[in-house]
Amino acid sequence: MRTVLQATALASAAAVGYAAVIERNWFALRRFEVPVLPAGAEPLRVLHISDSHLTPGRKRLMSWIRSLDDLDPDLVVNTGDSIAHPQAVRCLLDAMGPLLDRPGVFVFGANDLYAPTPRNPFRYVSGPSHLWHERKDPNLPWEKLRDGMVAAGWLDLNNQQGHLTIAGLDIALAGVHDPHVNRDRYERVAGPADSAADVRIGVMHSPEPRVLDRFTADGYDLLLAGHTHGGQLCLPWYGTLVTNCGLERQRARGLHRHPVNGQAWLHVSAGLGTSPWAPARFACRPEASLLTLTARDSS
Ligand SMILES: [Fe+2]
Repeated sequence: MRTVLQATALASAAAVGYAAVIERNWFALRRFEVPVLPAGAEPLRVLHISDSHLTPGRKRLMSWIRSLDDLDPDLVVNTGDSIAHPQAVRCLLDAMGPLLDRPGVFVFGANDLYAPTPRNPFRYVSGPSHLWHERKDPNLPWEKLRDGMVAAGWLDLNNQQGHLTIAGLDIALAGVHDPHVNRDRYERVAGPADSAADVRIGVMHSPEPRVLDRFTADGYDLLLAGHTHGGQLCLPWYGTLVTNCGLERQRARGLHRHPVNGQAWLHVSAGLGTSPWAPARFACRPEASLLTLTARDSS
């Protein structure tokens, strides 16, 4: 009996060590093709980053974010939860340095506004987190973060719309602030997406179905979100346990369809980081995604 207990304790310690030290820093690049461009259009590379939850000590993460510029993306989309420390804005902007010189757009997640607080890591597998956000005013320098990205020429899509022309393609964009904490104001971007644009992209942090449904009904072709961390602590051969939002676990990460009132594509990033108070990932590597937008099948 004693041997069994010792073996169990050893295996548990090894799993925790792996999740906190190895997998948390084992960054993955996911690649997807999304046929949303007009027939004959050249491919467009969209780099989707999310949920870096950056603190000044995460040098490996900063270095990996910086290396993503080598992918030569045409457009960068940041779906929020970028910082987790008052001093992290400068670190993030430095890490994103070369990416900020490219066309980019962003929305915020709740964790860009609120400093992380200690929480039971098992909350990640017990259901959505809501209430703690509602008890306090923002206490992270989100304005500095916004100003840094806007100064670089990136579009702020928090309850706003915009257009970009990249490689001759007219891209219509709309986004909302984080629906997870009810900061989304879809009515400010509501209405049919620009049918004259070459592609229409909707951006949000938390992929709440009520928001996905509205973007899809308005004719957006591709929806980008983060927030779920892909479940963060997953079970091998089973996958995500919880999504921390209204989305079902089967779409907690990766590219899927959202066939409600239309036919949008939905890409959910499993994100680059973790809360500093839950510094572990298991069977769910931290990631960024390169989405190659291609021409629709004209047949
Ligand atoms: Fe997050």
